[in-house]
Amino acid sequence: MSDNTQNTQQKPGAVQTTGHAWDGDLQEYNNPLPRWWLWCFYGTAVFAILYWFMYPSWPVGDTWLKGLKVVDYVTVDKATGKEQQKEFRWNTRSQLLEDMGEAADNKQRKDMLIKVQAASFDQIVKDPKMMEFVRSVGKGLFGDNCAACHGRGGQGVVGMYPNLTDDAWLWGGHMDKIQETISQGRRGFMPAFGAVLKPDQLSDVTDYVLTLSGEAKPSEASDRGKEIFQGQIGGCYYCHGADAKGLPSQGSANLTDKIWEIVNIPAMKTPQEKKKAIEEFVAKGVNNTRIMPTWKGRLKDDDIKLLAVYVHQLGGAK
Ligand code: HEC
Ligand code: HEC
Repeated sequence: MSDNTQNTQQKPGAVQTTGHAWDGDLQEYNNPLPRWWLWCFYGTAVFAILYWFMYPSWPVGDTWLKGLKVVDYVTVDKATGKEQQKEFRWNTRSQLLEDMGEAADNKQRKDMLIKVQAASFDQIVKDPKMMEFVRSVGKGLFGDNCAACHGRGGQGVVGMYPNLTDDAWLWGGHMDKIQETISQGRRGFMPAFGAVLKPDQLSDVTDYVLTLSGEAKPSEASDRGKEIFQGQIGGCYYCHGADAKGLPSQGSANLTDKIWEIVNIPAMKTPQEKKKAIEEFVAKGVNNTRIMPTWKGRLKDDDIKLLAVYVHQLGGAK
């Protein structure tokens, strides 16, 4: 791209060029824009002008052009309780009000909601029509409010957020317990044993925990651990139960199944890794790190009830 000399070798009949050549023979064609491209270009200009007329657009002084498009929606007059048709210039809020009105107009849906409100949990579960409704509405509610932590399908994250699809429950899996969990929220708590137990006691009790789910065979060490678990020193039985199956009143985990809520045992390859992970967990405990928020006041009671049924059926509905 150095010198910029006049091109003198244009042949008649060839495509027109701009008449410049760079580096001796590099020329630039002088083609008109393709017709389709021009029409698209004019089209976008026309679209923009129409759009400015129809929808809110340019600022004018301390207000803005409101646009010609209107939406209709039904509101209930607070004083008289009567429904009124209202017309409003288009904006996202009036659009939302229109959409919500349409949803409420759907009589079938309204009737179904009333039916679910009045029914007991057992009645809902036995009625396929109500369950269909619960699944479709529940999915939306769950996606909006719960999926951020528990995952879209409710599968959770080991150590952080419980898996709601496995029919193992910290706080109880019956629908009224799940309703209570959602409504009141829950706070996982287990004391830190790092300062309470001596290192060899911590090691022994961990050996015992490993035998409970068949990860290790009983040994002398695990027998000593059992005494710690079931006795005053550890007092683990107090929250996990003497059978170590967990107590829903404490939100404690079942230690006898192969399902791990917090310590990710299935991800560990060697017995040493497994033991180390449990030992570290028991030493540290759980305090203020696993909090299920309260939803009462943030979600309608009906929605909480619906979610309780939805979550219950995610977990195999036993
Ligand atoms: C900020 C993250 C977060 C959000 C959002 C959240 N949860 Fe939770 N949830 C948790 C944590 C953490 C726990 C575990 C508490 C514990 O350790 O006891 C939990 C526990 C639960 C449990 C008890 C599980 C069991 O095994 O007993 C249920 C049921 C549940 N959540 C349902 C929901 C539903 C339904 C929603 C949406 C309305 C929701 N959660 C939203 C974090 C969250
Ligand atoms: C004050 C009640 C309490 C005591 C005492 C207690 N735990 Fe826990 N433990 C819990 C709770 C609650 C959880 C579940 C925490 C959560 O979900 O947030 C838990 C979880 C665990 C877990 C993780 C299980 C999993 O699925 O990942 C292990 C392991 C465990 N406890 C072992 C012990 C041992 C060993 C002792 C005794 C040295 C003990 N616990 C004493 C309440 C207790």
